[in-house]
Amino acid sequence: MLLFGGTGDLVTRKLLPALYRRYVADQVSAESRVVGIARSGLSRGDYIAQAESACRGFLGKEFDPAHWDRFSALLDYLKIDAEAATDYDALARLLGGRQHIVRVFFFSTASHLFTLFCENLHRIGVVTPLARVVLEKPLGHDTASADLINQQVGAVFSERQIYRIDHYLGKEAVQNLMALRFGNALFEPLWRRGLVKHVQITVAEELGVERRGHFYDQTGALRDMVQNHLLQLLCIMAMEPPASSDPDAVRDEKLKVLRALRPLGERDVLTKSVRGQYKAGAVRGVPVPGYLEEADIAANSTTETFVALKVEIDTWRWAGVPFYLRTGKRLQDRLTELVVTFDEVPHPIFEEPQTSRTANELVIRLQPDESITMTILAKNPGEGMRLKPVSLALDLGETFKTRSLDAYERLLMDTVKGNLTLFMRRDELDAAWRWIDPIRAGWHEYDAGPKAYIAGSWGPAAASSLIGRDGFSWHGEL
Ligand code: BG6
Repeated sequence: MLLFGGTGDLVTRKLLPALYRRYVADQVSAESRVVGIARSGLSRGDYIAQAESACRGFLGKEFDPAHWDRFSALLDYLKIDAEAATDYDALARLLGGRQHIVRVFFFSTASHLFTLFCENLHRIGVVTPLARVVLEKPLGHDTASADLINQQVGAVFSERQIYRIDHYLGKEAVQNLMALRFGNALFEPLWRRGLVKHVQITVAEELGVERRGHFYDQTGALRDMVQNHLLQLLCIMAMEPPASSDPDAVRDEKLKVLRALRPLGERDVLTKSVRGQYKAGAVRGVPVPGYLEEADIAANSTTETFVALKVEIDTWRWAGVPFYLRTGKRLQDRLTELVVTFDEVPHPIFEEPQTSRTANELVIRLQPDESITMTILAKNPGEGMRLKPVSLALDLGETFKTRSLDAYERLLMDTVKGNLTLFMRRDELDAAWRWIDPIRAGWHEYDAGPKAYIAGSWGPAAASSLIGRDGFSWHGEL
């Protein structure tokens, strides 16, 4: 496992702890090697010391010094400056003569370096048939740049060797969504127009831009979150049942959803999208600065830290059913939730309930806890037939009483096993960018800039109007 960007945040905070956990779970054999690769001139000892302190911090009580000693014996470090051709010689020596082992090149760097890495790996002859390359998001910043990266990586690795990561697909809860939809006959007949009124997907974060100001200011929420995580969640909610769990069967169905998204053309952005940017406020009572006061953010930045969208899917199943998406930083809560609101009964025969929420709702919460809740109307005890919404609630953490795998634990092991199901295919990525690009163009052309919202709120008021115009409200808002 060759980790490019080996001293970076993702490798030290996510990938090494994930590999350590899989090692403790006996899934990493003693013959394996994990090699951090970066520009700094570190010794192997320095690198292991850095890795240890990061893992201790991240894993807390799970960190066990005896296991760490054995695991760290598998770690190594190579100094490679992407542009220095001779630096790759050490990698050639390390891998030379080992044709028949699985090797995973994980690129966790800025995507403009991917081409250089690929060319050099090819030149030194280490791209064997058992080699795989893992590409961390964001892959490009629009359709054209993503296409270029895909072409250049594709010149060295075949599509079956390319693993494009969207870590949301590796989350246990997202897998559970597949299980809910395709492991149960119950929901399938209801999952369509005429029975579903609307669907909401919320990915809310309490965190701000942390130490990634420079990256974030160039990226914004639409490209950082919607282009990948939210659209992938939308695909899993909306896709047709695949014929099997084979990677291409699943990815074909997701692709059909992406291709059926109705484009937001021109002025549509004014009625079907809202972009926002946080001002100073307080999250859970702790004062936090506004986006423009964060480190590495341009003083007059118009980068969005919040997006809400109304999405329509032009298929027989979903015609006329709006999907509302929203995501943002510095919101009131950390919450990832999918809500399916079903139609009301066509002809009420009981007394008027004392609530406006009379439709059945299926709430699938993915984070911070994993639960599935169905609201149904039941009779309020006492005289008369007055109905009241009550919940059928399933807490998956309580039910299984076991730690779920972290997304990267699953995804890293899948790259070793050669299972592509949870990775994005080139055409999916392309379709997602093609849908995103016009939104940015529309903002540029017609929208006056991001709407302000106070850190610790649920985003700009315009996000409530976006859904309110259709007579609905965000789940939990009323
Ligand atoms: C990443 C984004 O892909 O996902 C981050 O770049 C975001 O900005 C993160 O914070 C959210 O992931 P999670 O797993 O914490 O929900």
